[in-house]
Amino acid sequence: MSLEFSAESKKKIAALCERYPTKRPVVLAALHLAQKEFGHLSDDALRLVGTTLDLPYAHVYGVATFYTMFRREPGGRTTIRVCTNISCMLRGGYEVLDEFSAKLKLAPGESSKSFSLVEEECIAACANAPAVLCGTKYFLDVTPAQVAAIIAELEREPRPEGEVA
Ligand code: FES
Repeated sequence: MSLEFSAESKKKIAALCERYPTKRPVVLAALHLAQKEFGHLSDDALRLVGTTLDLPYAHVYGVATFYTMFRREPGGRTTIRVCTNISCMLRGGYEVLDEFSAKLKLAPGESSKSFSLVEEECIAACANAPAVLCGTKYFLDVTPAQVAAIIAELEREPRPEGEVA
């Protein structure tokens, strides 16, 4: 099945390509847009990004599989990324992850229709550990007691990934 970007995404990618001397730096943004549009980065989505930016499939595949924010399989509408790296671990990151896991009935790496739960490495919010990232929204200084309210908020207001400035 061949995919196509929406007119809006095509416009965004074209505008980003104008900023750089080559199209290669646009690959991350194009992958974000593809993930937002198609839900995950299938082989066809990677091929689309490659042909759009005149890049080899192997290059696009390499980028898409290097970063944890890109998903190769279908997942929930909101991905909940709970950091358990050193600062967050020391301030209760694993307890927060366990609470999300219990409330959502999902092990890290699993998905439901609404949520994917991911144990994440540092998400650059160490000063407010433990931190949780959902789309572009950060939850900071999170405690297990706050987890139910965070889930309720994300049910009301899903935070899909793939926003591109
Ligand atoms: S260690 Fe968790 S945000 Fe940096």
